[in-house]
Amino acid sequence: MRILVTGATGTLGGAVIPALLKAGHEVRAVSRTKRDDRGNVEWMWGDLISGNGLKEALYGVDAVAHLATSGRKGRGAVDVPGTRTLLILARAAGVPHVLFTSMVGADRAAHGYLRYKLEAERLVAESGLGWTILRCTPFHQWLHHRLGDFSALPALPVDRSVPWQPVHTGEVATRIAALLSAGPAGREIEYGGPQVLNTEELVRTWLRASGLHRPCVPVRYPGRLYAAQRAGDLTTDAAPKGEITWHDYLLPPPTLSDDSDDFASEHTASPTSPATQPEQDPDLRVYGGDEGYERPTRS
Ligand SMILES: NC(=O)c1ccc[n+]([C@@H]2O[C@H](COP(=O)([O-])OP(=O)(O)OC[C@H]3O[C@@H](n4cnc5c(N)ncnc54)[C@H](OP(=O)(O)O)[C@@H]3O)[C@@H](O)[C@H]2O)c1
Repeated sequence: MRILVTGATGTLGGAVIPALLKAGHEVRAVSRTKRDDRGNVEWMWGDLISGNGLKEALYGVDAVAHLATSGRKGRGAVDVPGTRTLLILARAAGVPHVLFTSMVGADRAAHGYLRYKLEAERLVAESGLGWTILRCTPFHQWLHHRLGDFSALPALPVDRSVPWQPVHTGEVATRIAALLSAGPAGREIEYGGPQVLNTEELVRTWLRASGLHRPCVPVRYPGRLYAAQRAGDLTTDAAPKGEITWHDYLLPPPTLSDDSDDFASEHTASPTSPATQPEQDPDLRVYGGDEGYERPTRS
């Protein structure tokens, strides 16, 4: 199949392209930055907000892996109007299948960023196209980046009552490739990591992997989104689930890091490597950037 990937330059997109190629598909990737074609990957310029370039990108494709997002600070601009535009043009082009990536909890805790994901899910399900929605738990890379924003703090605020279920993008990508090969599921499918960890377990593993020595200060994270997360709305029991743990992502065992063909090893962090250190984004410091998450209070 020829598959169009939106969000191809993103965290997940970087794992999805090799997974689709490995599954025998041709890939057309769309980005707002013009890139040269490489091997079996055709790059096309396109912008989901203006809609420019999408008609050309959708021409002759058998399925769309719609991963693009304007992120937690983007107020749903790509996720909702961008998805609407993409679906209208995909219908006009006669695309048989659109797979949309959403988040576990979008249906149960539609606050902040998740409410845009739920709205976009509805557009996809009501589009009249063949569809699959894959709801994932937070990616290892995203959490690694997010925790990096804390590294300058003398102590880390942790709420032990908040659970996380980090998942590896290489495994999400393999799941996406399998779902696209299978054709439209016409339902929402959840996919999470192998373990549910509380915030302190998550943070302590990250501190160890990063070689940082910081005390953890117990706090209670406020707001509706954390309340929902505390109640288990952002984790899932669904099977299958990923196998790569947060610990093995941060501190890969030799079998993972030795296999250069393995997506997992390609997307595994070396927390001490400058190349994988989170960028310093002043807007994202501590809790500042993520819509729906608020500053913690000391408990
Ligand atoms: N991150 C997580 O932990 C997580 C967890 C569960 C589900 N998800 C979902 O997984 C998907 C991928 O997330 P991610 O973290 O990989 O995203 P990401 O790294 O933030 O990448 C965002 C992508 O969207 C593209 N994009 C942004 N604005 C665009 C526009 N106007 N037109 C076209 N493309 C645009 C960007 O491409 P260019 O800049 O090249 O144009 C980029 O490739 C999203 O649907 C997200 O909701 C993420």
